[in-house]
This record gives sequence, C-alpha cells and structure tokens, in this order.
Amino acid sequence: MSTTETAVLTDAELRLLQALVYQECGMHFDDRRTPFLHDRLQRRMKDCQLDSFYSYYRLLISQKGKEELTKLLENLTVNETSFFRNKAQLDLFQHDVMDDLLNRKQERRDYSVRIWSAGCSTGQEPYTAAMLVADALSYHYLRHPVPFESPLPKPLVPAPWRVEILASDINYSVLRTAQEASYAEHQMAAVDYGYRLRYFDKTGARYAVKKNVKELIHFDFHNLKTEYLPQRNDVIFCRNVMMYFDEAEQKRLIEKFYRCLNPHGYLLVGHAESLLGLTEKFRMVHRNSGTAYQRVEEKA
Ligand SMILES: C[S@@+](CC[C@H](N)C(=O)[O-])C[C@H]1O[C@@H](n2cnc3c(N)ncnc32)[C@H](O)[C@@H]1O
Repeated sequence: MSTTETAVLTDAELRLLQALVYQECGMHFDDRRTPFLHDRLQRRMKDCQLDSFYSYYRLLISQKGKEELTKLLENLTVNETSFFRNKAQLDLFQHDVMDDLLNRKQERRDYSVRIWSAGCSTGQEPYTAAMLVADALSYHYLRHPVPFESPLPKPLVPAPWRVEILASDINYSVLRTAQEASYAEHQMAAVDYGYRLRYFDKTGARYAVKKNVKELIHFDFHNLKTEYLPQRNDVIFCRNVMMYFDEAEQKRLIEKFYRCLNPHGYLLVGHAESLLGLTEKFRMVHRNSGTAYQRVEEKA
C-alpha cells in the first residue's frame, strides 16, 4: 500500500481545503458532503503523487498549482442535467416570461433577446432554452408581424429579432461536451418527436443539435464566485447550482444576478431552490407548479 492511500485527512487540513474551495468557487461542503470531498481530494492527491493533504493544499495555493486547482474544482462539480428539466417551469418560461418580455421589447422597438444559462453543464439547458425561445418567437411573430421581409426558408429567429444565449460553466470539460452538441438516445428521453424532428439531426445512434440552434449559443467559462459576470440579460437560468452554496454565498450571487439583469428581467432557479428569505429584490411569478423570479424595480 502506498503512503498516499494511508494518508489521513486531519480536521485542520479539511478546514483549510474546505475554505480554499469555498473561496475559489462558492461550493460549500457540509458534513453530509464531506465524504465526497474527501474522496475527490484523495484521488487528485494520488494523481499528483503527494503523500499528505497538507502538501496537496500547498500545491493548490502555489503559482504552479493553478492548473491543479482547476482540475480539482472540475472534480468537485456535480454535472447532472437533462433536456426539458423541470417542465412546469419551462412552460412558464415559454408562455408567461417570453410573452411579457417580447411584448415589452416590441413596444420599445428593441428586438434583442439575451439569455444566460449560468452553470450550463453539458448543454442540455441552453439548447432547451434556444428551442423554446425559437418557438415563442414564431408564435409572437404570428400575432405581431413586423414590416420586414423574411427570407425563405424561414430562419429560426425571424427578422428583426436577434437572440443571443450565453451558456457558461466553471468546468471546461462539460463546456467541451456542450459545444459538441451530440447526445445519445438515453439523454433524449424528455425530447418529444416534434422537437427531435425540428431541432436535431440523427447521425448513427446519436442526435446532433442543428446548426441554426447551435449558432444562437455562445459557450464560455465564468466562475459565479467572481464579481465580473455577463451583464444586460433578459433572463438568467441558474438552476441546480446555488444548492451547492451556503446561504451567504447564495445571497451574494442573487445580488449579482440582480445587477446582471435588465429591468424587469427574470431569474429561474432549480426546483429545490428558492429565493424566499434571501432577497426582497425579486417577486415570485407562479403558474401551475412552475416558478420564476422577476426583478423588482425601485420606484422613481
Ligand atoms: C447540477 S449542474 C446543473 C446544470 C443545469 N443548470 C441544470 O439544472 O440541469 C451544476 C453546474 O454548475 C456548475 N458550477 C458549480 N459551481 C460553479 C461556479 N462557481 N461557477 C460556474 N459554474 C458552477 C457545475 O460545473 C455544474 O455543471
């Protein structure tokens, strides 16, 4: 047995490493999640051929340990995701949120829509958002045609509308998978035939997201712990990310999201997450069992 396998994680080492991870990415490992942290630290330490958690900690905080720190954080993220996750919330998004957004924009002749999927994992969330926005826009266009010639075949986003979807994550490996946009049958369970036909190309056993959908999305690295986050969004999806942060970090993130949204913009969080008791700056919007939060504007 090697020394690495027998290395003991002392309370002091655990506290140092927990604090470092928290400071770097906001993830909080409470007692329930400590065994997971321990396991991942052990694996990384072994890969680095170090024999104590303290030496591993020293490496992480050193200049030459930057790459290793990125690797560790990638090993600590939970990347579970799926297409059309939380259907009730997506119905609310496609109908109520998009309706309100497009009507307000059309009134001001502002034809740009900007959506951010923060913590996008392997891409199913931003691709789902793109498909729903495209459908919502087509429907809006039917009811409110604009005096612009639309070329044939009809584009996914009818002129003069412009849609930009930013999809970001702290994990480079999931971002690469997201950019590949190729999914296996078992990952397509929630995608009905209408969506498969319109938005995917089937190649062999896999489904590839069509080029015109991919073109709406820009993937990028963003760590939600930092202050400099993408601004001027109409809707932010940050689902099943905040649940790994403690209350203080959740409050800081909600405050940042408030600033990253346009006036009256929307924030969508995960099914097990809520803004209740964390902020007064958003109001809850509800339909069936779907929930979203809308930015409240200060009265002039
Ligand atoms: C459970 S997945 C959720 C994916 C998708 N939003 C959904 O609900 O299906 C959480 C994602 O958040 C990312 N994440 C965790 N901490 C982050 C941080 N500080 N900055 C950016 N992304 C983070 C993880 O890498 C992971 O891909």
